[in-house]
Amino acid sequence: MVQEIPLFRAYPKLVSVPWVSVVNSPTPVHKMEELTRILDNGEIWVKRDDLTHETYGGNKLRKYEFVFADVLKKEKKKILTQGSIGTNHGLATAVHAKRFGLKTHLFLLEQEPSPTVLENLLCHHYFGAKLSLLKNKLHRKLAVKTKLLLDRKAYSVVIGASSPLGTLGFVNAAFELKEQIDKKLIPEPDKIFITVGSFATCAGLVLGLELAQLKSQVIGIGVTDPSWSSKEATLDLATKALELMRSKDSSIPDVSKKLSKRLVVDHSYFGGKYGVSTEEALEAIELAKKDELKLEYVYTGKTLGGLIDYSRKSKISKNEVILYWNTKSSADLTPYVKEMKYQDLPKKFHKFFEEVQ
Ligand SMILES: Cc1ncc(COP(=O)(O)O)c(C=O)c1O
Repeated sequence: MVQEIPLFRAYPKLVSVPWVSVVNSPTPVHKMEELTRILDNGEIWVKRDDLTHETYGGNKLRKYEFVFADVLKKEKKKILTQGSIGTNHGLATAVHAKRFGLKTHLFLLEQEPSPTVLENLLCHHYFGAKLSLLKNKLHRKLAVKTKLLLDRKAYSVVIGASSPLGTLGFVNAAFELKEQIDKKLIPEPDKIFITVGSFATCAGLVLGLELAQLKSQVIGIGVTDPSWSSKEATLDLATKALELMRSKDSSIPDVSKKLSKRLVVDHSYFGGKYGVSTEEALEAIELAKKDELKLEYVYTGKTLGGLIDYSRKSKISKNEVILYWNTKSSADLTPYVKEMKYQDLPKKFHKFFEEVQ
């Protein structure tokens, strides 16, 4: 039987892990001609996970191929998940849960209301998510727990869908990249720059690269609090995902001790607080436009900003192939936003729109 995804092609016994198709894969890879020319230091390539889906893409969809399958297997009907008001993860949940007949309830905290944040907030409502605004992380946790106790059809997805199961989405992504290298669509990267938020994306990638025996080093650019999204936490999640895989197929090698040496997690571009913009991110957004990429400053701008700074500081050398993994959806949300008034949202959320007027 032809296996549907690269991970199952590599390890056929893993087909017992529930999986549903969410992503338009493989996502394209191409050289960033302009950035390569401007930096004049190595070849810069991009993996276009902004294109994982035409309605709303980005990295979260890869995790949901495994997480939605688990929700459906357990016959749950509603997803409860958490984030800040502009959460991309929450929007990915709302848009794609709907395709599987699942409802979404988002438990949100305040964040700086940038235009992108407000656009996402309007879209959460547009795509039918129920929204609750909580005072702090403890309140948010309690609200989810209470809801879970009261509703037997509810399923709680951890922040960013960064569970060991969600992490498999990026182990699969590494095997997808390997297939693209084997087909000579991209040279094997020496370094891969990727965003580290709730860290499953980076954890899965590091684990997948090791299992696929690719040489690439991973530079994870931290965009959330360093005490949370540390290298240790990322490796711990990768190890848990590996344990999950080995519980289904014991022939998968225990590579947990080998992961550390291919990973750097660097918070130098974080800017001191989640969600704030930085000079490096704003410059990266402008430079990326030359290669027709649409970035933002909370996640992807900081990551490309890190890559640019590494290049300028000669932490990248002339003969290297560098891959920038683009994780934020580039789908145009304006058609949905145009149909919405902020007054349509629950009253507690109006202040974010009134503050910016
Ligand atoms: C656009 C974007 N890129 C990257 C990330 C980081 O992914 P992860 O939370 O798996 O570290 C996130 C979420 O935090 C995101 O929304």
